[in-house]
Order: sequence, then C-alpha cells, then structure tokens
Amino acid sequence: MRALICREWGDLDQLELAEVEPPVPSATQILIDVEATAVNYADAIMVAGNYQTKPPFPFAPGLEAAGTVVACGSEVGGFQLGDRVMALLNYGGMAELAVAEQADTWIVPPGMNFFDAGAFPIAYFSSDVALRWQGHLESGETLLVLGAAGGVGLTAVEIGKAFGARVIACASTKEKLDVAREHGADETIDYSHEDLKARVMALTNDRGVDVCFDPVGGALFDPALSSLAWGGRYVHVGFVGGVPKIPANRLLVKNRTASGSALRYFRWYAPDKLQSSVASLLQWYAEGRLRPLVTHTLPLERGVEAIQLLTKRRAHGRILVLPHKTT
Ligand SMILES: NC(=O)c1ccc[n+]([C@@H]2O[C@H](COP(=O)([O-])OP(=O)(O)OC[C@H]3O[C@@H](n4cnc5c(N)ncnc54)[C@H](OP(=O)(O)O)[C@@H]3O)[C@@H](O)[C@H]2O)c1
Repeated sequence: MRALICREWGDLDQLELAEVEPPVPSATQILIDVEATAVNYADAIMVAGNYQTKPPFPFAPGLEAAGTVVACGSEVGGFQLGDRVMALLNYGGMAELAVAEQADTWIVPPGMNFFDAGAFPIAYFSSDVALRWQGHLESGETLLVLGAAGGVGLTAVEIGKAFGARVIACASTKEKLDVAREHGADETIDYSHEDLKARVMALTNDRGVDVCFDPVGGALFDPALSSLAWGGRYVHVGFVGGVPKIPANRLLVKNRTASGSALRYFRWYAPDKLQSSVASLLQWYAEGRLRPLVTHTLPLERGVEAIQLLTKRRAHGRILVLPHKTT
C-alpha cells in the first residue's frame, strides 16, 4: 500500500511517500480502507518525536480515519466487511490501509459522507468530552473558546451552542472569527489586537465567563484565566502557544477550577463517558446542529503540506488527506 512514511524523528519535510506492507489487524482490530483522514496538530508533534505515543519506525502519522472495513480480527464483533466506519487511531491514518481497535471504531451513520466522517472523530469527540465531563458546561452558561476557528476550537463553538451556552469565540483574524460566527458563535474577540479580558468583561457585564475552552495556552492563558467568573472552570485542551503555569492564588480567590482534558484518557479510563459523548454528537449531527467544516482535501503526496497548514497557522476548520485521491 502507499503511505506517508516517517523513518526518523524530525521535521515534517522528511516524510516520504512510499510503498510499504499493509498493517495486519490483531484479534481486536479492524483493517480500514482509508477514504479520508483529518490532519491534527499532534501529527507534527508525533513526527518530531515529542508526542506521548512514539511508534516504531517506519510509521505513518494520522490519528483518525474514515473508510470501509476490509478485514476484522478474530475477536471483533459487530462489524462486517464493507461497513462504513470512522475510527480513532494510535497512528497510521496517512496510508491507504490503517488498523483501529474495535473499541475505537464507530459505524458511520446513514447520511454522513466520508468527508464529514473523516473530519469528525478527534475534533468533535475531544471538544465534547472536555466541555461535558471536565468543564461541566450547562445550558444558559457563557463559554469562552480560544483558537475558535481551529480543529477543536470550531467544534467547541458548535458543541457549546448545542449545550445551550452563550459562546464567545476568540481568534487571531477577522476571517477566522467570521467562520466561528457562521458556526454559531454569539460574540467574537480578535485577540491579535483586542484586550481579551477587557472585551470579555464588557460582553458579560463584568461577570466573566463560566467555562474557558483553551487549546492554545501561552500568552492567552493569563487574560483568559482572569476572565473566569466565580466558580468558573478552565479546561486545558492543548498548548500550541506554549505551556502556561497556573497561579493557584487566582483559582482560590474566585473558587475557580482548572482541569485538563485528553481524549486518549477517556478512551482508556472512561470509555462509557466517551460513548455517551459520541451518542450525543451523532444525535446532534443527525439534527443538523453540527456541521463539520472541511476547507481542503489533499492527496497523500501532499500530506506534508496538509499538516503544515496547521503548523503555519493558516488553517481553519479541518483539512483532509484522501489516500485514494490522485491529483
Ligand atoms: N486534549 C485533547 O484531547 C486534544 C485533542 C485534539 C487536539 N488537541 C490539541 O489542541 C491543540 C489544537 O489542535 P488543533 O488540531 O485544533 O489545531 P489547529 O486546527 O491548528 O488549531 C489551533 C488554533 O490555535 C491557534 N494558535 C495560536 N497560536 C498558534 C501557533 N503558534 N501555532 C498554531 N496555531 C496557533 C490558531 O488560531 P488563531 O490563529 O486564531 O490563534 C489555530 O486555529 C493542539 O495542541 C492539539 O494537540 C488536544
């Protein structure tokens, strides 16, 4: 099969398109003929050797996939050859064939095409578990979303609206904020030149927000933490802007909480919560309340370019690599 292969830790440029042996599913795994795989910021981190998972060389990056079941391990139940599925992967999505654990695989519902399915798992699942189980977001509350046009940011905007929250979306350009508004944001803040805390306070009658969803960190953390109301919940989802230090005194004075949320730990330690999130998400999708935004579809040979759209901060929504696309 063709795959985008990493042979050593380093820059994305060293990834090469190669013919390799297809993966063999274990007893609990499903072999998927990949139609679409969304790129994630974590792909770049994994290739650099800085991700929690360090696959053996050679490997293909790619943490999710949508496609068709072509083989099942001996202990797999509930899936048939030819089923349309979407899955979370340990790695290997940027290839014509990929393996997924059956526990990390879901049937694609009727009416969902492979573009939406390819864009769905990581962004929607991660945002939902973060807001539902760590942020305890409730209807009528106010949600602040940083990086709101990015992969997990934009899905957090949509999910926040589906929860019945008032959503304040923050991003670095007018174009990105327009995208967040098209996906439901009630208010927007351009943190490239506006004072984040001052704007939040103006938008909330000096009360602050109930929940902050933060996939960025870095310099945005301090003003975003200061924007939390009494009893506010700060949910760390990622650190593309740098890892902040949490000043405990500023949690104490307003009974605030800071927590982390990592999809992988829901897979491993709280699968019931993850399944509950997925059921809600698929229901909302069927009702038309979630609208995955795919801005680019690139062939496998342009996989490096696809990931670089994220690392160069040029993307919004989701970027798909289509292993069977030829041009
Ligand atoms: N915890 C989890 O379960 C989980 C799941 C998925 C992803 N993540 C993490 O969440 C973070 C975002 O992932 P993603 O796939 O949503 O990425 P993405 O699509 O690239 O979105 C990240 C957003 O962050 C903003 N940003 C600020 N500083 C940036 C910088 N120096 N470089 C790039 N973007 C920057 C960008 O928006 P502006 O230009 O508007 O600022 C961008 O839209 C990553 O750290 C990723 O590993 C965590």
